[in-house]
Amino acid sequence: MANLIQIGVTDPPAPRPESIAVPEVEKGVACDFDSYLLSPDRSYDEQIARAKERLGRRVVILGHHYQRDEVVKFADFRGDSLKLSQQASDTEADYIVFCGVHFMAESADILRQPHQVVVLPDLSAGCSMADMAEIGQVETCWEELAAAGIDTGRVVPVTYMNSAAAIKAFTGRHGGAVCTSSNAGKVMRWALARGERVLFLPDEHLGRNTAWQMGIELDRMAVWDPAQELGGNDEQALRRAQVILWKGYCSVHQRFQPEHVDGMRRRHPGIRVIVHPECRLEVVQKADLSGSTEKIIDVVEAAAPGTTWAIGTEIHLVNRLAQEHPEQKILSLDPHVCVCTTMFRIGPEHLAWTLENLAEDRVVNRIQVDDQTRRWARTALERMLELR
Ligand code: 13P
Repeated sequence: MANLIQIGVTDPPAPRPESIAVPEVEKGVACDFDSYLLSPDRSYDEQIARAKERLGRRVVILGHHYQRDEVVKFADFRGDSLKLSQQASDTEADYIVFCGVHFMAESADILRQPHQVVVLPDLSAGCSMADMAEIGQVETCWEELAAAGIDTGRVVPVTYMNSAAAIKAFTGRHGGAVCTSSNAGKVMRWALARGERVLFLPDEHLGRNTAWQMGIELDRMAVWDPAQELGGNDEQALRRAQVILWKGYCSVHQRFQPEHVDGMRRRHPGIRVIVHPECRLEVVQKADLSGSTEKIIDVVEAAAPGTTWAIGTEIHLVNRLAQEHPEQKILSLDPHVCVCTTMFRIGPEHLAWTLENLAEDRVVNRIQVDDQTRRWARTALERMLELR
């Protein structure tokens, strides 16, 4: 039996009101989403499958590994952020339905061909980390660095995929590139070969872990807190820094603590620990391995039967791995970990609503980046994709 881990959903979808008379969803097609919420409590599988069949090759569904099972099972392609952005740039389908979060759909829109349309089934699926770097704050940081005597012509910005299109555009305009958790080392090496320093946005932890794994000393890294003058640094610390880390974080991955690794090793001698690089450095240092969602899957799939794992990442992926690999023992590094509530937002009702509308040639929840932002954001994304 797989070890299913209880999840603590901090932001559950509203329960369906049972006492309300439920209108029949006319032939399974309705343009307003509310009528889907009032559907009887049943599976949307048939509706989704039917609409998908009607759309045929005109639609491609991309699903991130953190999506719920009942959604991701309909994905034509499943992957981590890098794999999905490659898929988005390669597909010919008219409609790209992105089951992920807003910045992923935005990136797909930046990379799409002119005839394509990108749709996010629930517009409230955002990313709190991406919201931690706002373009005005980043522009101010750049100006303050210059005022502190740093030659910004020799600073190469690198932004994690988990950032708004405007931040990606800033990065592209200033000679930098996007990275994901699976190629951050490659992109940071590329950036340091082009300049003297890197400004890494917006995840402090991925930036620190990547630089540390490259052998950069911790005292050559500075943290830029946008709420403080000069990011909370003195000029000397900034001049010494080879990597300037934006003070942003993923609240799901910050829950994992070094004590969780110690506890797991005590309770399960011989356990292997693998964590996502958005975890803090102390956790990554204590783990056996770290890597993107795709790497975590690959490593577990390649392991010998009987291996015990503690995995430090979002719970839907951990639970899915536990179900798919009953020959291994798979545990969450923190048994009380919460889901990524924004990744959780897209439910089968959103997917059914989206596909049924598309099948009627009604585009809903389109994600569209303006042309000016797109130009430089695309440059930053293409620089990353060229480093494949
Ligand atoms: P991956 O690129 O590893 O899939 O990570 C995406 C993400 O948003 C992690 O929080």
